[in-house]
Amino acid sequence: MQTIFIELYDHIKQIEIMEEQLEQVISMPRIGDAAPEFKAVTTQGDINFPADYEGSWVILFSHPADFTPVCTSEFMTFATMEEKFNKANCKLVGLSIDGLYSHIAWLRTIKEKIEYKGMKDVEVNFPLIEDITMNVAKKYGMIQPNEDTTKAVRAVFFIDPKGIIRTIIYYPLSLGRNFDELYRVIIALKAADEFGVATPADWYPGDDVIIGPAGSCGTAKDRMEDGDIDCKDWFFCTKKLDKDTVLDKVLKK
Ligand code: BEZ
Repeated sequence: MQTIFIELYDHIKQIEIMEEQLEQVISMPRIGDAAPEFKAVTTQGDINFPADYEGSWVILFSHPADFTPVCTSEFMTFATMEEKFNKANCKLVGLSIDGLYSHIAWLRTIKEKIEYKGMKDVEVNFPLIEDITMNVAKKYGMIQPNEDTTKAVRAVFFIDPKGIIRTIIYYPLSLGRNFDELYRVIIALKAADEFGVATPADWYPGDDVIIGPAGSCGTAKDRMEDGDIDCKDWFFCTKKLDKDTVLDKVLKK
């Protein structure tokens, strides 16, 4: 009889865990969705997200934990590049499932003690959200239970000035992000919006851009004959877009 109760208890516990995991997965936002709203305490004061960021691009990113080496290398890199992102009208907001005092102590330690790859005395001036309740992490699908149930994965959400999620990238706990790629994504998203084009594999400003597929046979034929457009075939056409023209539009003066 006792064994039956133990088995039943285990079974119920298992169902509870599965329900919790399902809830976390269901609330994963997707590209094109409005960024889920939240209010939070950060190392730079309270924020109301995304309302406080209207008119700017934002990179909302999570990291597994304070006082960990990969995260430290990432924060030093991101903080060092912050001005570059700001020039692209892009603000940075970090998050981990740690409390405010832990965040503050970690960021002070980074500034006072850590020297890495020529970076030292690094001050992190962008807000780092305290999310001890996992409220925000759950809303954004940053907890991926088969990777870790209490640490956020390295998620990166690119949110446009209207509060729409435009790109999402996830990395596991062990893999530090490539911050040049994150910068490239912001520039490419802005260039695509400004010039009504798409950007091919490994695109950087100055490389040719893709013009959308022709919607009719007539357009396809015109394109093939347009001297400014280079069509490899009717469905794959590129055109020149010089670097200065792109950067003039996407970077603040
Ligand atoms: C790190 O940032 O070093 C780290 C965090 C969690 C798991 C593995 C590495």
